[in-house]
Amino acid sequence: MMKRAKLTIVGAGNVGATTAHWAAAKELADVVLVDIPALDGVPQGKSLDLSQAAPIEGFDVHITGATAYEASADSDIVVITAGLPRKPGMSRDDLLAKNAEIVKAVTEQVARTSPHAILIVVSNPLDAMVYVAHKVSGFPAHRVIGMAGVLDTARYRAFIAAELNVSVEDIQALLMGGHGDDMVPLPRYTSVGGIPLPELLPADKIDAIVKRTRNGGAEIVGLLKTGSAYYAPSAAVVQMAEAIIRDKKRILPCAAHCGKEYGVGGYFVGVPAKLGSRGVEEIIEVKLTAEEKTLFDGSVEHVRQLIKSIRI
Ligand code: NAI
Ligand code: 2OP
Repeated sequence: MMKRAKLTIVGAGNVGATTAHWAAAKELADVVLVDIPALDGVPQGKSLDLSQAAPIEGFDVHITGATAYEASADSDIVVITAGLPRKPGMSRDDLLAKNAEIVKAVTEQVARTSPHAILIVVSNPLDAMVYVAHKVSGFPAHRVIGMAGVLDTARYRAFIAAELNVSVEDIQALLMGGHGDDMVPLPRYTSVGGIPLPELLPADKIDAIVKRTRNGGAEIVGLLKTGSAYYAPSAAVVQMAEAIIRDKKRILPCAAHCGKEYGVGGYFVGVPAKLGSRGVEEIIEVKLTAEEKTLFDGSVEHVRQLIKSIRI
């Protein structure tokens, strides 16, 4: 009998609970939702509720909630969504100090109870939080991955599909760099049914889409007013988890540890990565034009500055 994978999600808030929902609906793994003792009852209640959808939707996975890490022991994947979300007017970087403390505390518990897990970090500011999780866990870098690129790319693809009135399924795209205002979209590496995007859309239209993509998280914060996006972020997490659990070797943009790759020198930054059962199995180095490289280096520099300002 094959053992079902175990997926723990720390933070049973909007992103965490919706990740549990998508994962359960795909029968991807048994799911454990973990939150803080002060919220005792919330992860338990959400998981009970979700497991009662199983007879309707027909998924046979176990979903449990807890406020102690023992329930999550020996997970294959741990998704860290614990932290504070952005409020209107707040940048992701404003979250830095508070979320660094939270991610540190969570990672210590996760490393103790699930020492062989692959970590997918979601908490913002993403590129700094994934660095914290790597440092604190002591896990090899290929087992620590940040989610941002799949989300940013999905936003970009959705906007392109809407502009061209074509199926989202036919848009292939790549975004690199940090999760934030200095992400690096690469229209040259974007195609629509195999046709390079610049053949289908004039430069000013592409620029407008790139701008909206950069601002994609803030656009939703501005509309929701009480928090940030969670449907697309959690779908993105589940796509990464699925690539790992099913050893799919998918090429997805992830915040992966780059040593000599792209000359980054030991930070986590958005790059195309091959995801399989070992986590990040390869980082793909694409050729960048001088202009793209300048944007990418600026993005990496921002990540470096963020990390300099936290103490872990
Ligand atoms: P939320 O406020 O709905 O949920 C966060 C949950 O974390 C809460 O239930 C809270 O009790 C819990 N939490 C706080 N401290 C904890 C601790 N020490 N241990 C366990 N749980 C703890 O927020 P939401 O919308 O789910 O967002 C979560 C994080 O993900 C935020 O930092 C947000 O900025 C980030 N995010 C990142 C994205 C990305 O692309 N990387 C996309 C969307 C959100
Ligand atoms: C987003 O991009 C807030 O980082 C989050 O929606």
